[in-house]
Amino acid sequence: MTVRIAPSILSADFCHLGRDIAMCEAGGADWIHVDVMDGRFVPNLSFGVKVIEAARRSTTRPLDVHLMVVEPERYFDDYVKAGADVLTIHAEAAPHLDRQLMRIKELGCKAGVALNPGTPLSAIEEVAHLLDLLLIMSVNPGYGGQRFIDYSVDKIERARFLLDQAGSSAVLEVDGGISRDTIERCWRAGADTFVAGNAVFAAADPQAEIGALRALCVESA
Ligand code: DX5
Ligand code: ZN
Repeated sequence: MTVRIAPSILSADFCHLGRDIAMCEAGGADWIHVDVMDGRFVPNLSFGVKVIEAARRSTTRPLDVHLMVVEPERYFDDYVKAGADVLTIHAEAAPHLDRQLMRIKELGCKAGVALNPGTPLSAIEEVAHLLDLLLIMSVNPGYGGQRFIDYSVDKIERARFLLDQAGSSAVLEVDGGISRDTIERCWRAGADTFVAGNAVFAAADPQAEIGALRALCVESA
């Protein structure tokens, strides 16, 4: 199974975003995770189209855009034009999941759905075959640097099963509190793509940290 490490630029130094993204790339980051927050779906504001454009100019790696916003469909066109490769919307903020996933795909972008810790997997059961990505939140979204919620591991395991049963080859991503202490459990449970903000950017050597996280995801003999 492919392992992807996706550093979240929410924890980067915004005065030196280009430098920090280049550093992630040099460290072997597979994707760059971009957290868009609107102060309504989550209690925090982050950034929007200008930062996505700036990130696009700084890297050739896929931009994995996580929309923590209400009415996400208002932003699809602009964000795809700005360079998003994956757009992930929250099931809790998108009552018309089928329509929104189809719209994202129509724009030529990969389409993902994120689930908050309190949202059951059944929220995506009917659209599993449409997903390019399923994101299991392992913290309540809104801030970087939060503590990993342990019961997420069981949900990842069930998500793996659900995707396999649906014959889906969707990426299974986990986001929140991923570190050397938590990544291996998530990998063993069946996740393949790992967002890491604080673990990478607060590390003494952020570049090496990306490799250290990846090294913990190894097939058991
Ligand atoms: C949380 C965001 C995350 C965040 C992860 O609301 O969706 O992507 O940046 O940060 P860490 O890895 O520090 O928990
Ligand atoms: Zn995120």
